[in-house]
Amino acid sequence: MTLAGRVALVTGAAGGIGRASARALSARGAAVLAVDLKDPSETVALIRGDGGAAEGLATDCATEAGAAAMVAQAVASFGRLDILHANAGISGPLNPDLTTGAAEFAEILRVNLIGPWLAIRAARPHLGAGAAIVCTASVAGLAAGAGGLPYSASKAGVINLVQTTAAALSGTGIRVNAVAPGLIETPMTAPLYTDARARGREGRIGQLNPLRRGGEAEEVAEAVAFLASDAASYVNGQVIVVDGGLSASLPFAPRPAGGG
Ligand SMILES: NC(=O)c1ccc[n+]([C@@H]2O[C@H](COP(=O)([O-])OP(=O)(O)OC[C@H]3O[C@@H](n4cnc5c(N)ncnc54)[C@H](O)[C@@H]3O)[C@@H](O)[C@H]2O)c1
Repeated sequence: MTLAGRVALVTGAAGGIGRASARALSARGAAVLAVDLKDPSETVALIRGDGGAAEGLATDCATEAGAAAMVAQAVASFGRLDILHANAGISGPLNPDLTTGAAEFAEILRVNLIGPWLAIRAARPHLGAGAAIVCTASVAGLAAGAGGLPYSASKAGVINLVQTTAAALSGTGIRVNAVAPGLIETPMTAPLYTDARARGREGRIGQLNPLRRGGEAEEVAEAVAFLASDAASYVNGQVIVVDGGLSASLPFAPRPAGGG
């Protein structure tokens, strides 16, 4: 799974899954541009501290100007672009009802769905045969119950985006795939973890999946690194679910201890 000589652009790389992905790609030899709305310099410093090559850019990657700027910087810094991990995202309100305002819904679609599309479109002229695009979807894009309604809809869109983009890039040798994480401890899910710890209920986190634990950002990053590498050379238009088996199981009420 070597990525020596490759150049990767990772959005949402100031922390969480994006930082873990940037580090995993760097560990395999890729030079990395870490992009985020927030200052990504800590991620850059971690990669450089590990002996890797990295630059950072703070921008809104879900605008046409931001997408163009980040691609231009990757090429200016490292001379080429081979890997795009479109990972930046926002969760939005968790309310399962129908009260979300249209502007709020549109903002979630802008960041989570139009953002990856803009990144792919800006990167395309620089990508050649062997290049790889990976988007971060979510189990929330597969079914209800893992996020708010706009978030789920946006992530379902990301899953379709990788399918349709893989078809649109037919004949180019560029692969397009997604990872769909389950519950992962990151800044996005920090309130849930903090609340559970405060109530002494940390042990209940992740109990709905067969591995009976929450996931780590590094466990998602390993799937990203695989999809970005030549080891996945015949994997295209797919979604790799990294959720401990959550989406493989229907809801199940275990028998109470002692029978019944
Ligand atoms: N943590 C989970 O349980 C989980 C599960 C499934 C999917 N995901 C997805 O994984 C991705 C990464 O999330 P995370 O969990 O690491 O949380 P996170 O909040 O740490 O990471 C998201 C990053 O994206 C950045 N970002 C948001 N909007 C941006 C914009 N317009 N331009 C540039 N950067 C922007 C944020 O500043 C943040 O650093 C997201 O797409 C999220 O939806 C997370």
